Amino acid sequence: MIVNNRVKSVSFIIISILILLSVILSFLTNPVSPTPWVLIAALCMMPLIKQKHIKQIKWSKEYSIGIEYIDQDHKKLLHLLNQFSIAFDYAQCEEFEREALEELVSYTKYHFKREEKLMEDYGYPGLAEHQEEHQAMIDKVEEYVAIYNIEGHDSLKQVTNLLTYWLINHIQESDTQYRDYLVELGADEFDV
Ligand SMILES: [Fe+2]
Ligand SMILES: [Fe+2]
Repeated sequence: MIVNNRVKSVSFIIISILILLSVILSFLTNPVSPTPWVLIAALCMMPLIKQKHIKQIKWSKEYSIGIEYIDQDHKKLLHLLNQFSIAFDYAQCEEFEREALEELVSYTKYHFKREEKLMEDYGYPGLAEHQEEHQAMIDKVEEYVAIYNIEGHDSLKQVTNLLTYWLINHIQESDTQYRDYLVELGADEFDV
């Protein structure tokens, strides 16, 4: 996988350099020709083409819990997940990849704690079950991080898929379950 991703990144750089060289050559050989301008436009499009291949998750109103700081947490988690997908897909620097993964895991844990505290404060009856779900997720991610520490980049595809699938499902199915209960008790009127 890392080979595939690195090959993609190197190919992208080579194509960009070739286009740039063609632009210079076109300007030198025929300065009035429209060709270099077409090539410049193609060069400008390159980052957009690359970006399009990376799966990015957009925030949607249907993910909203109605409690501002929890929605902000969820937005940040999606942002960190997107950053991680970019780091994984570009596969150019292990440090960048590891940093993005660590930030995502650490913010996920931080968010879980905040959410559990909120449920506890309002006496939500489904707290224990929700906590178990969070813990199962943390255990799974930590297991993958341990595998990543041994196998490196190759194992990360599973983490991306797991986190994307789990996070969206958890927000839509489990987090929305406490929403009505907490909003009815006025939890949406307070911020932290
Ligand atoms: Fe959540
Ligand atoms: Fe949750």
